[in-house]
Formats: sequence, structure tokens, C-alpha cells
Amino acid sequence: MYRRLLAPALFRAEPEWIHDRAIRLAERVGRVPAIASYCAPTDASLVTDVAGLRMATPIGLGAGFDKNARAVPALASLGFGHVEVGSIAARPSDGNPRPRLFRLPEDEAIVVYYGVPNEGADRVAQRLANRRRTATLGINIVNTNHGIDAPPSTEDEVIADYLTSTRILQPHADYLCLNLSCPNTHDGQGFFHQPHRLAMLIDGLREVGIEKPLLLKVAPFPDLRAMETFLQAVAPAEFVSGFSVNLPAGKPPGLRASAAELPGAVSGRPAAAAANRTIRELYRSIDPERHVIVGSGGVFTAEDAYAKIRLGASLVQLLTALVYRGPTVARAINRELPKLLRRDGFTRVADAVGTDARG
Ligand SMILES: Cc1cc2nc3c(=O)[nH]c(=O)nc-3n(C[C@H](O)[C@H](O)[C@H](O)COP(=O)(O)O)c2cc1C
Repeated sequence: MYRRLLAPALFRAEPEWIHDRAIRLAERVGRVPAIASYCAPTDASLVTDVAGLRMATPIGLGAGFDKNARAVPALASLGFGHVEVGSIAARPSDGNPRPRLFRLPEDEAIVVYYGVPNEGADRVAQRLANRRRTATLGINIVNTNHGIDAPPSTEDEVIADYLTSTRILQPHADYLCLNLSCPNTHDGQGFFHQPHRLAMLIDGLREVGIEKPLLLKVAPFPDLRAMETFLQAVAPAEFVSGFSVNLPAGKPPGLRASAAELPGAVSGRPAAAAANRTIRELYRSIDPERHVIVGSGGVFTAEDAYAKIRLGASLVQLLTALVYRGPTVARAINRELPKLLRRDGFTRVADAVGTDARG
């Protein structure tokens, strides 16, 4: 019903406007017990333990949908095992100039050029201070985007920005995810390609004292050497629990819509190939006893999620599918995924992780 009736009506509105309305509505409605029990993942095979956190399903909502943690109870009740809010920075930011969000329906994709607008760590921490615990809450942290015309931040300023947000937000998170790869800000794209900056960040985080599982969100690597350089640089950080895969900058090949003129990165179906390649390559290089992988990029169905799990993802996130398939998309995946596991002889998700990564 959502795809045939609601989506065409909603898609007549400007994307960012309708997204803001959806978040406001979800904030006002909060957790509706009837919706929560309708969508709740119940199959024991889906229960997933990652970095000491137990989740009812590996399927989570990716960062960028609820940027300021306004609607966590409502979103958690849609069948997600975890909800990642953000990205949030030390200072409030307006992000990039509008328009900065574009739908590509024929590709089931979104072109995103937000530039991480957010209300800043203090405001979000206040909002989260009295939250009731529902799904596992991830807080995604990024460097403040001071605007296109601002002079580039110095190395020390960028690192300090991450550390300030980490200090402020850590008490409110079940896990933290440091977004090291925003495709849409000038500090975000290549800053951490220099290993000494990762070392500076790691030293700073050690001084802050990391008490929650911490993930690093990285863009697909241009080649295996870049991935090895990154993994070597973060190896000394005993508090890093794993890696999450972000959208690559630029336009992927094979888009049906003409998006070359639009600024920004492409999510949804066209993002799947690079994400899957990165998950597989990462899984082949990490020690799975020490690090987990969170996969996202073009997950619409249980088959899509299962493919990422078999390539090495312990958790799988979606965002674009919520726009194109509607609020019951996680429920639908949670109902089908156990059948795929059973078909292949697995009793739980963890047994399937990485089975397609070798060879
Ligand atoms: C509109 C939009 C906003 C996003 N904002 C963020 C963000 O602020 N921080 C972040 O780490 N990832 C952000 N992402 C990336 C998503 O979390 C996710 O990794 C990516 O979209 C791939 O999943 P999908 O194909 O299911 O959307 C955003 C994606 C979209 C589509």
C-alpha cells in the first residue's frame, strides 16, 4: 500500500520538507505500543550480540534519518534492533545550502548533499538525557561543517571537535560511531587518509576514555593498499570495536537517472556494489574476534541484508529503503531473514557472518 498509494503522494513534496515533517510527526507520536508489537522482531535466530550489546535483530536504522535524535522511540518501534542518530558535531551547523536532497525513484536512490546539518552535541545530549531505553542507541559523531565559505579547519581543530562531541555524547549512547568520511564536506572526504591524523584521534580518544563500543565509519577504500594503511593505523586502538561503511563520494556507474549535475553522494540500490565489495575486503582483513563490520548501502529486502551478512557484516543498516518501501520495511526483512538462515542450515545470524567472504 505504501509503495502504490502513499509514496507517490509523498514524493510530490520537496524531499527535505517531507522528511522534516515525518520526523516531527514521529517525535510527537512517540512509541505506539500496538505498532511496536506489530513490528517487533521475535525470531530467536535474529538475536545478535555485538561488542557486548544484545539486539533483537541485526537490522538497524542508519545515521542521517534522525539527525538530532528527536524521534528515537517511534523509529525504534518499527522493528529496528538499533537506531543510529546523527551525524552530530561539537557545534550546531546549518549544513550545505539547499536544495541538498534529491530523489532518484527509477534507481531507488537518493542523492544526498546535506553536509551534516545538526543541532550540536550539547542540544542533542540534553534531549537524550531522559530517554527511556528502547532499541540499542548508536550516536554518530562528525566534525562540525562550518560552511562552504569558512576557511578549512586545522588538524588540531578537527580532532578537538570529535573529542568534544565524544565527551558530551558518550554517556547517552549504547555505542558511538565516528563518521570519518562525510562525502559532502570539504574537511570530511580525505582528512583521515593521512595515518598520522588517525593516530592523533586515537591518542585523543584514549585520553577522553572510551567506555562504550566505538565504531569508525569509513568510505569504500579506493584500493586494498588504502584499506591496509587504515587498518594498520587503527590497530593500536584497543577500544575500537569495528567499522561501518559510508557512501562513496561521487556518482556510481550505471545510474538510470541523470544525476551527474547534482551535488552529493548516492545512497540506495546504486550504493550496494561498492558497499558489498568493501564489506568483503574488510572482513578478509580483520580479526572477527576483535572487530565487527556494520554494512549499509542498498538494503531493501531480506535477501539484500543476508548478502551483506554473508559477506561479513554482523549488523546491517538501511535508510533509503525506509523512504521507498515505507515504515514496515524492517518488519518485512525481520520476517524473511530467518527463512533464509534456516534454508542454508544456520541457526543464528552470527553463524552466517562472512561465509561468502572467502574464496
Ligand atoms: C539522506 C541521507 C542522509 C545521511 N546522513 C548521514 C549522516 O549524517 N551520517 C552518516 O554517517 N551517514 C549518513 N548517511 C549514510 C547512511 O547512514 C547509510 O550509510 C547510507 O545511506 C547507505 O544506506 P542506504 O542505501 O540504505 O541509504 C545518510 C544517507 C542519506 C540517504
